[in-house]
Formats: sequence, C-alpha cells, structure tokens
Amino acid sequence: GIPHTYDAPVHIAVIGGTGIKSLPGFTVVATLKIDTPWGSPSSPISILHHNSPTSGKPIPIAFISRHGLHHELAPHEVKNQANIAALRSIGVRTIIAFSAVGSLQEEIRPRDFVVPDQIIDRTKGIRPFTFFEGGMVGHVGFGDPFDNRLGKIVRQCGHSLEGDGVRLHDKGLLICMEGPQFSTRAESNLYRSWGGSVINMSALPEAKLAKEAEIAYQMICMATDYDCWRGGEEEQVNVEMVMGHMKANAENAKRFVAAVLDELSKEEHAEQILAKHLEFQMKFAGSMT
Ligand code: ADE
Repeated sequence: GIPHTYDAPVHIAVIGGTGIKSLPGFTVVATLKIDTPWGSPSSPISILHHNSPTSGKPIPIAFISRHGLHHELAPHEVKNQANIAALRSIGVRTIIAFSAVGSLQEEIRPRDFVVPDQIIDRTKGIRPFTFFEGGMVGHVGFGDPFDNRLGKIVRQCGHSLEGDGVRLHDKGLLICMEGPQFSTRAESNLYRSWGGSVINMSALPEAKLAKEAEIAYQMICMATDYDCWRGGEEEQVNVEMVMGHMKANAENAKRFVAAVLDELSKEEHAEQILAKHLEFQMKFAGSMT
C-alpha cells in the first residue's frame, strides 16, 4: 500500500479545483491524513514525485482536492484554514491553485486560461477567513493578492503552451462571490462595470489564508461559461456547462500545471544543489579551524 508518512519537507503544492481531483502522470508516494487546529483538510494530501527535467532527485509535490475526493464540499464548505495550515505544516511555501471561472468579458472565451492579478471580495463573511484571532492578532497586506514572482513563472509556462491551442490571458480582475447560487444578471453586469474579467467562488479566503501563512500563491483560472450577462437563456451558466468545458479541457489544464511544476522543480533542484554546496563549504570551513 501507499505509505501515510513522508519524511522530507514538501515545498510546492497544487490545489485542484472542479474537474481536477488528481494529477495523473505523477507517482503517488504517500497519502497524508493531517489533523490541524482548524480540523482536517478537504481531502487527504497526496505526495507526488515529479521528475525534474534537469536531472537530479525527484521533487515532491503536495496535492489537495479543494472540493473533496468526491466533490462533496460546496464552495462555502471548503476547509480553507485546514487546507492551508496542513500544507504549511509539511513545509509548503508555494501554492498553484486551480479554478473553473465564469467569463465577464467577450474576449475571454470558454476554455481560455486567465492568470489573474487582482481580486474583489464578494463573499459574505460567513466563511472562516483568518488565522489571526483568539488572542493572536495580525494584519497582512493584501494589495497584491497573488505572488508576483510566482505569477511571472506561471504566465511564462502558459505562453509556452500557446502553440498547442492553449489561450492565455496574462492579467485579470477576479470577482470571488459567495454562491452556491450563480449571480443575477444585474450583479453580472455590475461586475462587468467594475472591470471584472472572471468570476468564481473559490479564491477567497484561500488566497488570504495563504498570505497570512506566508505562502506564495497564484491562482490559474479556466473559463467554462459567460456567466449570465451574455446571450439568451440557453447560454446562461449551469453546472453541466462548467463540467463539460472542464472535462473537455482537463488535459490542457493538467499540461499547464505540469509545465509550471517543471519550472518550479528546476528552481527547487538548483536550491538543492546550492544547499549541498553550502553544506560542503561549511564542513570545509569547519575542518580548517
Ligand atoms: N465557476 C464557474 N463559472 C462560474 C460562474 N459563472 N460564476 C461563479 N462561479 C463560477
């Protein structure tokens, strides 16, 4: 069977959204059932081995399914605090989060990818949204909800796939609404008037908690519908539409994530070499005294 412990720290994680409940093509080396002061995560954490394209040891990646193994958690039921705390507890410092989104702009077509750079919070304050309470007071800046350095890597990787039919939008204002009902047409038009690019129900409080936990976080969005602002009744968003486009484009989504992991693994590998080098220098310096 697959072990339930993993000895080394894991620095990189992927949070899979609707349609991405696993990452095939990677070897699962452990499944961790972690308990945190905020309860258990949405799913067990799979540790996957990723073979770095530059030679060297495989890089471990943590994977968590945001809506549970069987998509049993509605957006407002996702265990955001436990997910982020559990990932942090095993050493995660970088998160790539995936999400299906509605498009609020004509030029963002279903199956297009968007790497957002801003968020407007339209959740209703009913989701547990902070680690800083109950005697621990703290305020983190959230001017840049996503990590710029990570965002740059993600955008480069997305563009590298563009020849193969992947369309990528480099920037975007993401509206995060409460749900689980979709928006009214008046709301959808209001968000468009704010300059909204895409809309989902999952970016918050996930991104806020990652910021509090000092984890670099970037969301990759994939458009599945035009919400309800465009066209007639038959064009309005419904679950079948979201699932249909997600399924049809899951391969591209996974290739996108894999390309980002390749790139992050290269850095991770370089860091391993650097650490070894430093260790050697320290030993060497030690032997000189
Ligand atoms: N996720 C996918 N499509 C969506 C939409 N139109 N509104 C909110 N969340 C979504």
